[in-house]
Parts: sequence; C-alpha cells; structure tokens
Amino acid sequence: MIYRMTNEHVESVATIHESSWGKDELSVKLGREYINRFYQYIVTSKYSFGFVYIFDKQIIAYAAGFYDYQYFNKFFLKENLLFIFMTLIKRIFSCKMTLIDILNLLQDDKKLSKAQYRKYHLGALALSKEYKGVELGKQAIYDTNSAVLNELKDKGYPGCWGLCNFNNVPMRNLLLKLGFEEIDLIKMIKKNVVLYEKTF
Ligand SMILES: CC(C)(COP(=O)(O)OP(=O)(O)OC[C@H]1O[C@@H](n2cnc3c(N)ncnc32)[C@H](O)[C@@H]1OP(=O)(O)O)[C@@H](O)C(=O)NCCC(=O)NCCS
Repeated sequence: MIYRMTNEHVESVATIHESSWGKDELSVKLGREYINRFYQYIVTSKYSFGFVYIFDKQIIAYAAGFYDYQYFNKFFLKENLLFIFMTLIKRIFSCKMTLIDILNLLQDDKKLSKAQYRKYHLGALALSKEYKGVELGKQAIYDTNSAVLNELKDKGYPGCWGLCNFNNVPMRNLLLKLGFEEIDLIKMIKKNVVLYEKTF
C-alpha cells in the first residue's frame, strides 16, 4: 500500500537511502545525519512531499517530489547552514569526501542548464536492497514514483525533471519506464550525469 511520507517514516526511509544508493552519491558521502535531516525537511517543507510503499508492515520503497526545487534547496540550506558547513568540514577531514565533491557541488547548477521544467522534480527515491531485482520491488518502486508524478500532474504543472549518474543503469531504466526522456549529458569532474524530463 502507498502512503504519504510523514515524519514517522523518515528513519526507515533514511536507512533505505543509506544502504541502497551508490556509495559514490554525494548524499551518502555526507552521512546518515545529513540524510535524516534531508528527509525530515522533505516531509515538513511546503515545497516537497513523498510517498512510501509499505509491505508486510515495512517500507520497501519510497519516492519524493518537489513543487519548487529551487525554493526547497534555498530554505533547506538556509535553515541548516551551520550543520551543512560543519558536516562538509568533518567529512573532508575524515576523507569521506574529497575536494572533487566540493568542486562538483559548486557547479551543481550546470545540471539544469537545458531543463524546461526547473521547478518540478521527481527527486530522491529508492527501493530497499532486498527487493531489488524482485517483481514486487519493481512494482513497488514503479507505483510509488507514479504517485509522485500523478501528484505533480494533478497540480497542473507541465512536466518535471529527474537526474542520475550516467553509470546508474537501473535508475536510468526506471526513469525511461516512467516515461522520461533523456535531455542532456552533463560532464562533471570524474563523473557524468544525465538529465531527464517528462512532459505531462
Ligand atoms: C533504481 C532502482 C529503484 C531500480 O530497482 P530495480 O528495478 O529492482 O533494479 P534492478 O537492479 O532490477 O535493475 C533494473 C533494470 O536495470 C538492469 N540493470 C541493472 N544493472 C545493470 C547494469 N549494470 N547494466 C545494464 N543493465 C543493468 C536490470 O537488468 C533491470 O532491467 P529490467 O527492468 O529490464 O529487468 C534501484 O536500483 C534503487 O533503489 N537504486 C537506488 C536508488 C538510486 O540510485 N537513487 C539515486 C538517484 S536519485
């Protein structure tokens, strides 16, 4: 069953994020406390929302959407500035992050240079590790993302964007299955990312 993501789901969602996303993803490098804050903000900000898929009393998949990604980021950064700054410093000194990550972060805007629907975003999503490659998992992640897309569509928005690393083949397959089209291949330092958009 699909439910709207609330504060009580945040801990489980963060656990799935931490174990299911690639270790090369910036959010994973930033650590568990950062991930928790990020999802806590998703369920409280008026610019974002999420859904979880619960099977056998456990969350097995989740997806988040953004009504206005730029405002979400602006206020998330503003309200967590000291925490984010301290996290970056700690993670660099403990070698969890490198200068390359910081340089890529500084050119983050480059990713959306060809986007038509900059505000509206299908964002963070994942399937719990045990359900990857399993039929129930595929259905769960597809349905949860579809719930996010339907919500954005029902708001009357014209379309939305999604993004992932070039080498994240399962994620690229999922976005295509959800009806997204490839818009741009963006070269960052030591990685490439692909921008996708879906018109409603
Ligand atoms: C994206 C995700 C939900 C897909 O789940 P899934 O459908 O169960 O994933 P699978 O591992 O079965 O792979 C999906 C497809 O990619 C294919 N695939 C997987 N790894 C592949 C590889 N290295 N090369 C080519 N194809 C690959 C699989 O064969 C499968 O194809 P199919 O759908 O035709 O059967 C899941 O991998 C996930 O939660 N990833 C973490 C989330 C994430 O990376 N988020 C970051 C960006 S927002």
